[in-house]
Amino acid sequence: MSKTFYITTPLYYVNAPPHLGGTYTTIVADTIARYKRMIGFDVKLLSGTDEHGQKIERSARGQGIAPQALADRVYTEYLDLWKLIGIEFDEFIRTTEQRHHTSVSELYTRAKANGYVYKGSYSGWYCVSCEAYAPESDPSTPATCPDCGRKTEWFSEESYFFKLSAFQDRLLELYETNKAFIRPESRRNEIASFVRGGLKDLSISRVSLKWGVPLPDDPGHVFYVWYDALTGYLSGMGFKSDDMKFFRYWPVDVHLVGKDILRFHAVYWPAFLIAAGLEPPKSVFGHGWWLFKDEKMSKSRGNVLNPYVLLEVFGSELLRYYLLREMVFGQDCNFSFDAVIQRSNSDLANDLGNLLSRTMAMISKYRGGRIPAPGEAKGDGEIRELAGRVVQSYRANFDDYNFSRGLENIWELISRVNKYIVENEPWAIAEKPSQAKKLDSVLFHAAESLRLIAALLTPVIPKTAQALWQQLGIDADVKTVRLDELRWTEELAGKTIRGGAALFPRLDPKEVFTKMDDVSGRKEAAAPAVPAAAVETGEAAVASMITIDDFAKVDLRVATVIEAERIKGADKLLKLVVDLGFEKRQIVAGIAVAYQPESLIGRKVVIVANLQPRKLRGLESNGMIVAASIGPDTTPVLAGFHEDIQNGARLR
Ligand code: ME8
Ligand code: MG
Repeated sequence: MSKTFYITTPLYYVNAPPHLGGTYTTIVADTIARYKRMIGFDVKLLSGTDEHGQKIERSARGQGIAPQALADRVYTEYLDLWKLIGIEFDEFIRTTEQRHHTSVSELYTRAKANGYVYKGSYSGWYCVSCEAYAPESDPSTPATCPDCGRKTEWFSEESYFFKLSAFQDRLLELYETNKAFIRPESRRNEIASFVRGGLKDLSISRVSLKWGVPLPDDPGHVFYVWYDALTGYLSGMGFKSDDMKFFRYWPVDVHLVGKDILRFHAVYWPAFLIAAGLEPPKSVFGHGWWLFKDEKMSKSRGNVLNPYVLLEVFGSELLRYYLLREMVFGQDCNFSFDAVIQRSNSDLANDLGNLLSRTMAMISKYRGGRIPAPGEAKGDGEIRELAGRVVQSYRANFDDYNFSRGLENIWELISRVNKYIVENEPWAIAEKPSQAKKLDSVLFHAAESLRLIAALLTPVIPKTAQALWQQLGIDADVKTVRLDELRWTEELAGKTIRGGAALFPRLDPKEVFTKMDDVSGRKEAAAPAVPAAAVETGEAAVASMITIDDFAKVDLRVATVIEAERIKGADKLLKLVVDLGFEKRQIVAGIAVAYQPESLIGRKVVIVANLQPRKLRGLESNGMIVAASIGPDTTPVLAGFHEDIQNGARLR
């Protein structure tokens, strides 16, 4: 039986829609899983959602829905997104599933039986958004959250503790004996010195929280989020529900996580497992962050790129290629639209696309669509030798999770073959019978190189790889290729190509940006309308505190609607013109489901007057109308006045 390989993505929080960070982690995990399958491993890729905790409870309350309903919705969004990006996961775990409850309870019961759990009381400054206590615990000085900078709250409660302090030596020994346990190396040193600094016992339960898994022996408590969430890696692989599966795939080969959650995976998690008599994972990889204009993209900062928009504008193949090619795995990297366009035009459309299209065109024109057997041309030997070397270095780089280098290796071959074609001037010798063998060789070497290139690209851009094979006339599924047996052959000789359309169109930056505006406008209009000033009903689930100065930045004004019409092809949007007293403005508003355009004429409304202009469906919108709603997909109700007030008056 083949060797197993168990790889995981983090279990994503369901308090907000999927964002680019998690999308990246998952694309990398999928690439590794595909690669390992293609070198003969029996692979399990697990993804999942982390559905408990205060953050989710609050977010749901803010939207006027139950936490489970929010979890259900965001879980579905993750499934849809993974499908759109071509993620082939084998298992998916939601922490609200019964099998997960069973597994957390079991892990805890074993740790407790082994003497690693005790009851105490916990107090500290707690950040609700990050679900973590601030490290300083001086009750007289309110701490701000070290991660997000928000205000924290003082909490004091009865709690069960995990004896993390007992694991310092065992963890250091784990890092020492298995040098690859924490990667990259720089992070290993960071974590090791953190552990050397001494470990405090860890509070693993809450009485203050309801939305969680109850402790089996004290159901007034629920498990604290990290004890709960991490255990998903066990639950999803059959722990206490499918022994055969569990024993076959445990322990995890690699947990793939962002560096912000590396500590939980490299310190807490192995300790939780060892305490329960289970084997710790073999390795944890902490990748870097995608930055936008040098700042971390994060849900809490609100500067996240919407993966659905990126997918619609760029497509899944380009997005996968860009993310893996551009980021040196382990380091931070700026996300840049210009760079995406550049990669697409230069690497994909130009280098790879041209190699394919000229090879297809020449085989069809000069050889009636049949790939000739090789003859002899200038550089043949060099091409074969380079192809062999590229396979080797690509393998070494992918084994080492060096995806950008591995892709560079492939492009080295692509460039060399393009050059080889030009050097042999096939178009000049095509009509000369004396040169037929030379032309045969050029065509064969180009085709065979493309076959190998497609195979190597499969883990990263599987659809493109399959399309390449199809154009070459190969019927097999490119995924079934064994990369550990991949070598130059002459099997393509005599085969009939199929040809086809260009793989990647040239992107025009201007068109891309117009489309981006259009798509993001449409997504925003369709998504939960959460205008800055929306009033939310239900219990107070108030956003984080702002100062009066923050509020003063928002210029809210009274205006009268003077024109209103529907927008063709956008059934949620209305195009309005409002009179502000001192000027008239066009505003595009997502209120068409709730209001007939005619009924709005003459109506007094509140608008955000200093919102940056943006385009929705190609129409400029200069401001936003304030409306209240109790959640996504509910009808917005416009804010208005009971007494008369003149246009342009400011709300303060
Ligand atoms: O942390 N660049 O879930 P999450 C790269 N539920 N990666 C990023 C990123 C960025 N700008 N922003 C976030 C959780 N990530 C927990 C995990 S596991 C048992 C529980 C990555 O929805 C981040 O580093 O916040 C991490 O890998 C994932 O997205 C976190 O997703
Ligand atoms: Mg996070």
